[in-house]
Amino acid sequence: MEKVTVPGIRARKGGEKITMLTAYDFVFGGIVDAAGIDIILVGDSVGNVMLGYPNTLPVTVDEMIHHTKAVVNAARTAMVVIDMPFMSYHESIEQARRNAGRMIKESGAEVVKLEGGVRVKDAIKAIVDIDIPVMAHIGLTPQSVNRMGGYKVQGKGAAEEMLIEDALAVEEAGAFSVVLEAVPRDAAKKITGMLSIPTIGIGAGPDCDGQVLVLQDLLGLLGQFRPKFVKSYVNIRAEAEKGIKQYIEEVKSGAFPDDSHSFH
Ligand code: KIV
Repeated sequence: MEKVTVPGIRARKGGEKITMLTAYDFVFGGIVDAAGIDIILVGDSVGNVMLGYPNTLPVTVDEMIHHTKAVVNAARTAMVVIDMPFMSYHESIEQARRNAGRMIKESGAEVVKLEGGVRVKDAIKAIVDIDIPVMAHIGLTPQSVNRMGGYKVQGKGAAEEMLIEDALAVEEAGAFSVVLEAVPRDAAKKITGMLSIPTIGIGAGPDCDGQVLVLQDLLGLLGQFRPKFVKSYVNIRAEAEKGIKQYIEEVKSGAFPDDSHSFH
């Protein structure tokens, strides 16, 4: 498989579907890459999934760089995208550009992703102007959880117009692709048809140009409430618990280590 590039992803608009998954470390980054994924997103969901935070708001630029370096070390062909965390691009255009530059320089990722539409248009433009490719993220933006009052479907009814404005704004600002999260499938279809850049959906139905999921949801590792749009393809948590329980029993009973696991 050839290295996945930004122009390559752009060229997939309306063509072969784009696949994206999150990863936050070397082991899973390597598995996802070897399986042939197009894009690995080191999402700020690292806060919930790996660090046990209640939401993504506490995640820092340093934490993002730390996790992304590990994924970059594992990725051979996949494109690596790093999420800009809350308050790393909200203060000023200069701050957005400085943090985007630092995150690309120090992590080795190729692309930054940031949340918001019309409101972050200038930040996207400033980052794109220094040749850092930007993936936008509109609809349900988890960094806005407190304003939204929870993780709710966005762009329903009259709110569809605002969603479309956000989509057009990020395209105009120079984003090369956009994540649509938790929006009605008809709205996602309409936006996908309107934009010249690829849309990557999560909870946005089948008509986007690509799909993204949180890897730990797909693998059934989290064992908690799962949103409607998540499909778990395996239940690794149950398998892991089974193996660990067996290890505990065997250590206690003396069955492990046996002679075959001992040196002579
Ligand atoms: O942080 C993340 O995992 C994301 C995906 C849900 C798109 O932004």
